[in-house]
Amino acid sequence: MSELQRKWWKEAVVYQIYPRSFKDSNGDGIGDLRGIIEKLDYIKSLGVDVVWLNPIFKSPNDDNGYDVSDYCGIMDDFGTMEDFDEMLKGFHERGIKLVLDLVANHSSDEHFWFQESRKSRDNPYRNYYHWWEAEKGTPPKRWSFFDEEANAWKYDEQTDSYYLHIFSVKQPDLNWENPKLRQEIYDAVRFWFEKGVDGFRMDVITFISKDLPFKELPEKYNGNFVQYYAEGPKLHEYLQEFNREVLSKYDIMTVAEGPGTNTENVLDFVDEDRHELNMSYHFDISNLGHKDLAKKLMLPEGWDFREFKEIFIKWDKVFDKKGWGTVYLGNHDFPRMVSRWGNDATEFRELSSKMLTTFLLTMRGTVYYYFGDELGMTNIRFDNIEDYRDIMTINLHKLISSEGGDLDEFMWSQKLIARDNGRTPFQWNDSENAGFTSGKPWLKVNPNYKEINAEAQDTTENSPLNYFRNLIKFRKENLELIYGKSEYYDLENESVFAYSRELNGRKLLILVNFKENEATVNVPFDLEKAKHLFGNYADFDGTLKPYQAVILEV
Ligand code: GLC
Ligand code: CA
Repeated sequence: MSELQRKWWKEAVVYQIYPRSFKDSNGDGIGDLRGIIEKLDYIKSLGVDVVWLNPIFKSPNDDNGYDVSDYCGIMDDFGTMEDFDEMLKGFHERGIKLVLDLVANHSSDEHFWFQESRKSRDNPYRNYYHWWEAEKGTPPKRWSFFDEEANAWKYDEQTDSYYLHIFSVKQPDLNWENPKLRQEIYDAVRFWFEKGVDGFRMDVITFISKDLPFKELPEKYNGNFVQYYAEGPKLHEYLQEFNREVLSKYDIMTVAEGPGTNTENVLDFVDEDRHELNMSYHFDISNLGHKDLAKKLMLPEGWDFREFKEIFIKWDKVFDKKGWGTVYLGNHDFPRMVSRWGNDATEFRELSSKMLTTFLLTMRGTVYYYFGDELGMTNIRFDNIEDYRDIMTINLHKLISSEGGDLDEFMWSQKLIARDNGRTPFQWNDSENAGFTSGKPWLKVNPNYKEINAEAQDTTENSPLNYFRNLIKFRKENLELIYGKSEYYDLENESVFAYSRELNGRKLLILVNFKENEATVNVPFDLEKAKHLFGNYADFDGTLKPYQAVILEV
C-alpha cells in the first residue's frame, strides 16, 4: 500500500448524530448544538474520527431540516452561529472532524428564493425552481415521496403554474440548470469550508439533474422513479463543476446519498480520476425485505440473509481497483440496526448488537455508524399514528387511507422500518426522559431507557458501548481491517458471513453469525490453529455460538 492511497476519510469511523434527538440543553424538548457541546467528551470517548450532523441550517422543519430556508444560518431550534463556532472548535480540539449535511436538491418553500420565484413569471428568481405553466395542460406524472397524494407537482395560483417537489409540498426542487443557482449553492458551501468544516454529506444529490423538458416517464423505468430521478443527463457535469470550483480546493470529504446508484454506475461518482465525490452510499441493503418500496410495506417472511451477503460482496468488489466504498446498517432514514438486522429480544440484544458492530468495523469501506447504535438502542414500535412525527409516515398513512388500502399492514410495517424508530432521543441515563431533556421530548423516549443507557454501559466492562470503543481501537491498530484486500468464503452458508482481510502478508479472518442458532463454517483455514484476537464471546471453539462474531489471525 503506497502512502498515496492513504486518506484520512478512508480510515475514518464516521459517527452520525441526529441533532434533534441527541441532547437538549434548554428544556424545550429538542436537541441542540449546546447539547452537543455538553457531550463532546462522550463523543471523544468513542474514538470516532468524524462526526456527521444531519441538517442544522435554518428551516421551518417540515422534514426536520431537510427543508432549508437559509443555507448560511443556524436553525433557531438548534442555537446560534456562536454556538456553532464553539462546537466546531470543540470538535477540532479533540481531533474530531465535522461533516455537515447539504440539502441542495430542494430548498424550503420559505426560502427567500422560492418566495420570490412564486411571485411572478418574470421574477429574477423564477428559474431557481422548476415551473410548469398551466396553459400547457396537466404536467406529466412525477412521483413525490412525501406528498399526501404522491403527486410531485403542486399547482400555485399566483402564477397559474405548477412547481416540482419530489419530496413534500414544502420542499420545492431547485433548478440546477440555472448557473446562478449553482453559484449560490457553491457560495454557501465555501462559507462553511472557510469556517473549517471538514466535508459534506450530500442529500439526494443523485436527483439534481432533471430530464427536461418534463416528458412522460420513459418506458424503460416502468414506474421506478428513484432510478429515473437518479439518471438525469447533466448530473455528472454538475458534480464535476462543483468539484472543480469548490470541493477540490479544500482538504475535505464528500459522500453522496446515492438513491438510484448501482454497482454499474457508482464509479462514475467516486472514481478519483473523474473528480466528482469521494464516496457514495447505496440503498440495496435497506431495500431488502420490502413488499412495496413506495408504500413502505414489508414482507411477512422478513429479509434474506444470502441476498444480504451477495449485496455486500457485490458492492465491495466494485472498489477493488478504484474508488472507495461505504458501509452502514442504519441512519436517520432507517430503523434501529439491532431491530432490523440483529435481534432485540432481551436475551440477544447485546450480543447481536456487538455482532453487527463487528461486521461494520471489519468490512472494507468507510464506516458510517449511527448514534445510539453503540448502546444497542431499539425500535420504539409505535401503535398509534398520532405518536409519529415523521412527515413520511404521516403522509403515507393519509395516502393509503385515501386509497382504501390496508392500514393495519402499513402500521405493522412501520413498526419494522419507520424512520422515527431511529430518531427517538438518545438514552443518556435512567433519569426521567433518559436524561435527554428536562422538558417534553419532541418525539417519545423509548421506555427501555432504564435498561439501555450510556451511563450504565459506560461502567460495564463488556457492554455494547465499550465493545464499540475497543473495536475502534483494534481497527486502528490493525490496518488490515481498513486497507486489506477482502476475500469471501462459504457463500452458501445460511448463518455466517465469512471473509478475510489481508495486508502485507498478514491475514485476519472474520466470522460473523447473524443467526440465533449455533453454526459452523467452511473455510480453507485450520481454525484450531487460528489465533482469537477479538470477539463478542470470551473464546471460540470452532463452532459459532448464537450471534457470535470473531476476528482471527490465520
Ligand atoms: C434524504 C434524507 C431524508 C430526507 C430526504 C429529503 O433521503 O436522508 O431524511 O427526508 O432526503 O430531503
Ligand atoms: Ca433545545
